[in-house]
Amino acid sequence: MRVVRNVEQLREAIEYMRGGGHGPIGLVPTMGFLHEGHASLLRRAGEMCGTVVMSIFVNPLQFGPNEDFESYPRDEKRDLELAEREGADIVFIPSVEVMYPVPIRSKVMVSSLTTQLCGASRPGHFDGVTTVVAKLFNMVQPDYAYFGLKDAQQVAVLRQMVSDLNMNVSIIACPIVRESDGLALSSRNVYLSAEERHQALVLSRSLREAREAVEEGRAGTAAEVKQLLISVVSRSPLAVIDYAEILSFPGLESLESGSRLTDTDGEIIMALAVKFGKTRLIDNIVFTPKEVAALV
Ligand code: PAF
Repeated sequence: MRVVRNVEQLREAIEYMRGGGHGPIGLVPTMGFLHEGHASLLRRAGEMCGTVVMSIFVNPLQFGPNEDFESYPRDEKRDLELAEREGADIVFIPSVEVMYPVPIRSKVMVSSLTTQLCGASRPGHFDGVTTVVAKLFNMVQPDYAYFGLKDAQQVAVLRQMVSDLNMNVSIIACPIVRESDGLALSSRNVYLSAEERHQALVLSRSLREAREAVEEGRAGTAAEVKQLLISVVSRSPLAVIDYAEILSFPGLESLESGSRLTDTDGEIIMALAVKFGKTRLIDNIVFTPKEVAALV
């Protein structure tokens, strides 16, 4: 495994692999503090690609002024051990100066998909994500890029960017990885106190209950399911809801409030963002209610 820290070294390492016929190239972009979710992306990339590139970069552009950029957890030594164990060939760890050597005057922005859910709570966040991912795509020129569905809105936004701008890369969305008790893995879970960690299980529990309510016909409309999510999450005294939404996926459009979810064509997303103290957690389920209805 080669660790590279600037764009010249990165390009040279990729050229070497390409020259040796070690294609296709898979990219796993991360902000480090790696966990089993990232490991699953590396494994998927390894199954599909001859060369796996992982980037580790805590991207200042996607953090708001009062967010956790400075305190975001970092552990390069542990990250490199995990990357090596999971088969990364090249790990790119740029500094902020390497990534943004001069104040950036160009941005990549995706409209409409970025105005709801996390885009509403974190203005400018997705402009930071699309800008840094576009830069990484230009630097690595990957055939495939791997992202976890815990950030399902990010996947929708990046797919839109790739399609709109004719980027020559396929986005591979990988399933959410959970602890055995249901908590979705996140680098930010380390911020949680023991009690917050315990109460945070309400995210996955409420999403599971909401999906069951749709499957069993107990909650029919988006408004009813939203109400159910809110009432389950509110049973945890430390939980402060940022949003609870049911939208179409990947279009992220509102569903008609009066119509039954099982009449909706295509996939929907039930998405939650909940704060425990200073820690904001997100979770979601994407599924096709019509398929669920067909099984009942
Ligand atoms: O999902 C993340 O960790 C980040 O948003 C990403 C895609 C690495 C861009 O900084």
